[in-house]
Amino acid sequence: MYGIFYKKRILKEVFALQGKSNPQIVVISNRGAYAFQERDRELIPKRTVGGLASALEPVLTDYGGTWISWCGRLDKPDLERGIRLGVPPGESRYHIQEVLLTREEHDLYYHGFCNAALWPLCHQLTDRCSFQKNYWEAYRKVNQKFARAARNIKKENPRDIFWIHDFHLSLVPQYLRHQLPDARIAFFWHIPFPPADTFHILPWSRQIIYGLLGCNAIAFHTDQYVQNFLDAVSFFYPVTIFREQGLILFRNRKIYVQALPVGINYHHFEQLAADPLVRARAQEIRQSLGAEKIILGVDRLDYTKGIPQRLQAMACLLEKYPGYRGRVTLLQIAVPTRNGIGEYGVLKKEVERLVGEVNGRYDQGQGAIPVRYRHVSLDQEELVAHYLAADVLLVTALRDGLNLVAKEFVASRIDGRGVLVLSPFAGAARELQGALLANPYEPSHLATRIKLALEMPLAEQKSRLESLRRVVRSRDVRWWWQNNLKPVKSPYTTFTPATGMAGVSQGGQAT
Ligand code: G6P
Repeated sequence: MYGIFYKKRILKEVFALQGKSNPQIVVISNRGAYAFQERDRELIPKRTVGGLASALEPVLTDYGGTWISWCGRLDKPDLERGIRLGVPPGESRYHIQEVLLTREEHDLYYHGFCNAALWPLCHQLTDRCSFQKNYWEAYRKVNQKFARAARNIKKENPRDIFWIHDFHLSLVPQYLRHQLPDARIAFFWHIPFPPADTFHILPWSRQIIYGLLGCNAIAFHTDQYVQNFLDAVSFFYPVTIFREQGLILFRNRKIYVQALPVGINYHHFEQLAADPLVRARAQEIRQSLGAEKIILGVDRLDYTKGIPQRLQAMACLLEKYPGYRGRVTLLQIAVPTRNGIGEYGVLKKEVERLVGEVNGRYDQGQGAIPVRYRHVSLDQEELVAHYLAADVLLVTALRDGLNLVAKEFVASRIDGRGVLVLSPFAGAARELQGALLANPYEPSHLATRIKLALEMPLAEQKSRLESLRRVVRSRDVRWWWQNNLKPVKSPYTTFTPATGMAGVSQGGQAT
């Protein structure tokens, strides 16, 4: 994946970062890059697909270290210690440490507190929230389990860096801090952080904030999320906040708060897009659809992604502009997700009903079918082939922390063609300024924007993509993890605030 020169540079940085006593990076997240599958009574570690795995794996593969996560197994309460294993199998570049959850813990913590309370709350879909005391109790208990697993990794090196990820584990920093007062702890919050008055709807919002204040550094995708977080912090605690520097002083400890949107492995996507096999597959996809123009959607089948609204917009387009019937296809890839949660089943049925309705009404009996729908997870080659086959990519989420699909599409379009239609409510809209913005809540407006995208002159497509590619290239995944880990290198220097900094209202945007 990386050239020799690049590897040497990384190793140099590793030594600079790690110093003589060789501390390790301990990544902690709910899911990791591997899940266990049982075959013939043997446990096989299987690679998982997803943004988190592809963003973090290069760090551990190159630095070494440990990744603590739940690996998909539900077990008996007494079997608390999960498996520790070197991965990739046969190479052992880093270790995975499994955290085992009981079925009950998983139901209440993951389905309950994470996905029925925090997920809809942070996406500002408060009608969908369910706050239950037993969800909260399970969340605390599971966060303690993760903190214990981290504590048990390596007790002797105070310079280890703990890098904790996402809303599932917001209490881990403070649990760790209590046990290891000098630990270096960084956190990345991968979903939106809502405005403080929305966040406070959660009965345990203060405890979540306190949990996060156990870090030395915390990062979000956008400045707006940083500001929302700082507002929530200052509501509960008499802290000193230097907004412009992205700094909180909490109980004599510095906490850096930054906006650092996740990057992708840009060159890897470029390479895949140049691969003749991938390009041939893109041609095959185009031919199989038989459409003059292909509009693509690739999303987890989640209610935050705005898939029903997109299908309604497609109906609007074909109603208002009948000339497109039989010539344009929307190919919607819906990646299966959170199957055990009732609302996701309801959404699946709703999407299938709408696909049938749009096709029933606008299929001409010849030419392109209005909507092709696939409920499937794609590997990276197949994904890039789809990006290359499309004329327009729709990323029209109702609310999204960032959206890596948008960045992957941009990196894959080495031909300079293609149009990205982007929701202003996706974090990526702050960075990807060359995209065509479209409000997903209004189907007829979205239809008009799709028409504009379909008819965009090639010169405009190229100039927009060029500026998009510049951003995605310069803020790649390496930029992201380097900047995240920078503040935890030396968290204990004495802090002397310069005069006139307090109360300035901008967030700590990294370059
Ligand atoms: C979001 C979250 C991730 C999560 C992913 C998939 O992107 O930020 O932490 O892993 O969704 O959801 P799942 O519930 O399947 O892990």
